[in-house]
Order: sequence, then C-alpha cells, then structure tokens
Amino acid sequence: MAKKINILLLSAIVLMVILNACRKETPVTGSSTPTLPETPYNYVNQNFGQMGDPFFNQPASNMLTNEGATLGRVLFYDAKLSLNNTVACATCHKQNFAFADNAKGSTGFESKTTPRNSPAIINPGMSNGYFWDIRATLLEEQVLMPVKNHVEMGLENMDNLEVKLRKLDYYAPLFEDAFGSTEITRERIAMALSQFLRSMVSYRSKYDVGMAINFENFSTLERMGKDLFFSWDMPCQGCHNGNNLNGWGTSAANIGLDDNYTDNGMGDLLANQDPSFDGLFKVPSLRNVAVTAPYMHDGRFNTLEEVIEHYNTGVKKHRNLDYRLTEGGGGIFLEGDGSGNGIPVIDPLPGGGSFDFGNPRKLNLTETQKRALVAFMQTLTDYELMRDPKFSNPFK
Ligand code: HEC
Ligand code: HEC
Repeated sequence: MAKKINILLLSAIVLMVILNACRKETPVTGSSTPTLPETPYNYVNQNFGQMGDPFFNQPASNMLTNEGATLGRVLFYDAKLSLNNTVACATCHKQNFAFADNAKGSTGFESKTTPRNSPAIINPGMSNGYFWDIRATLLEEQVLMPVKNHVEMGLENMDNLEVKLRKLDYYAPLFEDAFGSTEITRERIAMALSQFLRSMVSYRSKYDVGMAINFENFSTLERMGKDLFFSWDMPCQGCHNGNNLNGWGTSAANIGLDDNYTDNGMGDLLANQDPSFDGLFKVPSLRNVAVTAPYMHDGRFNTLEEVIEHYNTGVKKHRNLDYRLTEGGGGIFLEGDGSGNGIPVIDPLPGGGSFDFGNPRKLNLTETQKRALVAFMQTLTDYELMRDPKFSNPFK
C-alpha cells in the first residue's frame, strides 16, 4: 500500500516537474541552495539617519537579530514557499524597484494576476498598517498571508509548508542560528520573515541627506517642488506626512480616482459594513516612489506626471472624497495670516468626507510646478537600498 502511494506520489512529482518545465516564467531562484556570508550581514546596528527608531512596531517576543534576518532573507527569496516552487516573495517584491513590482498586477504561482498592484515594502517596521486596505496590523500576522493566498503562492495548508521546508537541508542550521534549535514551525517562519522585512530600512535618499543640510544639495526645481509639496496651500502634506510621507502608516483616504470604485478597499473588508469606508485606501509612502510605477492600488497610472495630473484636474466627486481634495476643504482648514502658511484647524474626518465640502478642487498648477513636484518626488529614491547585498537574492 505504502509503495503504491509512493509511486503515485513520484509520478505526481514527475508530472509537476514536466509541467513546470513547460511554464514560461523562470523562477526567481537561480541556484537551489543559498550562498550566505561566513559572518552574517549586519541587520541590527544600521545607521538609521533621520529615521529615528524604526522598530517601534517590533513585538518584544521577536526582536531583530542578524541570524533571524538572514533566515528571513532566504525565505523571502525561496520559491519553495509556493505550491509549485515557481514564486517567491521577491517575484512580486523586487529589490531594484524598492521591493515593488513593475507591473499593474503581479503574476502568482498559477500565472494568475493579483487584482491589486504590489506595493513597495518601505520601512515596514515604522508602520502599523499593511495592505492597501490596512487589513493587517502586525508583520507577524501579515507575512504568511501571501503564502496561503490562492493567487499569490497557493500553499494554503501550513502543515505542508513546514513539511516542505524540513526536507531542505539548508534550513535546519539557519533555524538553529536564528532560534536556538532546528525546529521548523510556521511561527518561526513568520518571525524570521518579519525580522527581515523590519531590517529593510530606507533612509539614504537625497531628501534624507538634504534634511540635515538645509537642502543645499537640492536643485532650484527640487527645492520648489519640496516647498510646494509641504505648503499648506497644497493638499499633499495633509496626507503624505511623517518620516515616510505616508501619514505615519495608518492613514487611509479616498482620493476620487473614480465616481464609483470596483475595488472598494477598506469598504470591502467584511468587518466594515459602513459605506463611509468605500473607496478608502492606505496612504502609501512616497519614499522611492520614482521607481515603484505603476501607481495607485490598481496600478492605473504609469508615470508620476499622470499622478500629478490626477490631483491637478482629475479628482472625481466620490461620496467619500477626502475634504482636503475639495474646493471647500482646501481653504477652510487653514488658519493664520492668509499667506498659506497656517496650521490646519480641523482634524481629518474618520471614514472620509461625511460633510459636503463641495466639488473636487482644481490645483491650477503651472507646467513648471508640475515638473517641480515630480523632481521633488525623485529626490526620495534610496539607491543604496536597491543595491545593498544584504537585501539581495542569496540563490544566485
Ligand atoms: C504574486 C505576487 C506576490 C507575492 C508572491 C507576494 N506578494 Fe506581498 N503583496 C502583493 C500584493 C498584490 C500586495 C497588496 C495586496 C493588497 O493590498 O490587498 C502585497 C502586499 C504586501 C505587503 C504589504 C505592504 C504594505 O506596506 O502595505 C507586504 C509586507 C508583503 N506583501 C510581503 C510579502 C511577503 C513577505 C511575501 C512572501 C511570503 C509576499 N509579500 C509575496 C503581491 C505579492
Ligand atoms: C486625502 C489624502 C491625500 C492627499 C491630499 C494626497 N494624497 Fe497622494 N495618495 C493618497 C492615497 C490614499 C493614495 C493611494 C490611493 C489609491 O491607490 O486608491 C495616494 C497615492 C499617491 C501616489 C501613488 C503612490 C503609489 O505608490 O502608488 C503618489 C505619487 C501621490 N499620492 C502623490 C501625491 C501628491 C504629489 C499630492 C499633492 C498634490 C498628494 N498625493 C495628495 C492620499 C492623498
């Protein structure tokens, strides 16, 4: 009986191998075992520059270690985490695009496409909200979701994941180094992946350098863009604020992409039966935004120029449109001497615009102002992150 099952299993494997060989995509993994440095890379003691303590969303039960992040790196790049060994986290989160994907939707293990655009992974340790609808609040909860996801990696049964990794020789010593014993469990897999993600800190952009030296390193156009972006006359900083220009990682808003959304973001979550959440999406970080095209939750815009044109003239009057993008909301929340340098006098409304602040605002930007905003966003790119070997593919 056991033999029969084995033969069945064997033929299934052979069939899978043949089927896989026929697939068009090449798996991300070049070699079958990872090559790692003798002494682990330094993930713990990085100079975080302007970022402060990036690990505030780090549970005491899973503090970052160099060995934990090393294991996390291997897991992140290992296509064995998918049902048919073709897709790794890094298939959709590519280092050279700040861990975003350069496609509208990403291709999962069965060549199906994700309905949403793969976001960049930017300073996740400084965030408390993950996914476009902020449905996860802790990395330890988040990281196994893509593994189970039926479009992304398809390994729905976590028992199978554990069994699979136990058969790969290179994992036992890595788990031992990270956690003190060779035991491979889903909890440890989640912990190591989370440590690796938390260690990915982006803090080395031209903008970061500029902050310390009064932006002397900026061109005239870049400085103009920065001043515009942070001006109270403009809506941008109202949402994209904080160290990561993401509203501190937990804000969401409706920016009037459509009159009616097909994907309602937070409004589609089962827990949210409240229609005032329809069309609300996480405020994404603008760090590295110049390399993370296409843009928005559905990847509808291909360039930053298109994004600017949306805010300039394209905002639709969705019933939950954020007040900061309306004619009424643009002015009334300023207080001061009328120079536009006032401070906001009302807090963001929960669930978007439940007051009517009128029609979408037109920003009336000049061509130079548009170019300046784009130039400013280009200063947010951290090239070091994208070539740092400690975040690169170890299966090469
Ligand atoms: C097939 C493509 C694909 C794969 C494989 C994949 N992801 Fe993602 N990832 C996405 C998409 C798409 C989203 C956005 C989903 C949403 O918002 O509903 C996302 C979101 C995320 C986020 C949230 C980022 C944020 O700031 O909101 C993190 C973190 C993340 N993925 C980590 C991982 C990890 C870790 C793995 C491997 C275990 C992985 N992903 C595998 C496509 C993928
Ligand atoms: C009301 C809050 C709000 C304001 C004001 C705002 N944004 Fe956004 N921004 C968002 C949200 C939310 C998204 C994602 C929306 C979606 O995908 O549905 C976004 C997306 C973006 C993106 C795409 C990022 C990506 O990774 O896909 C860029 C670029 C951007 N905003 C720049 C700006 C600029 C420049 C301004 C000022 C002209 C601005 N934003 C004003 C909330 C805001």
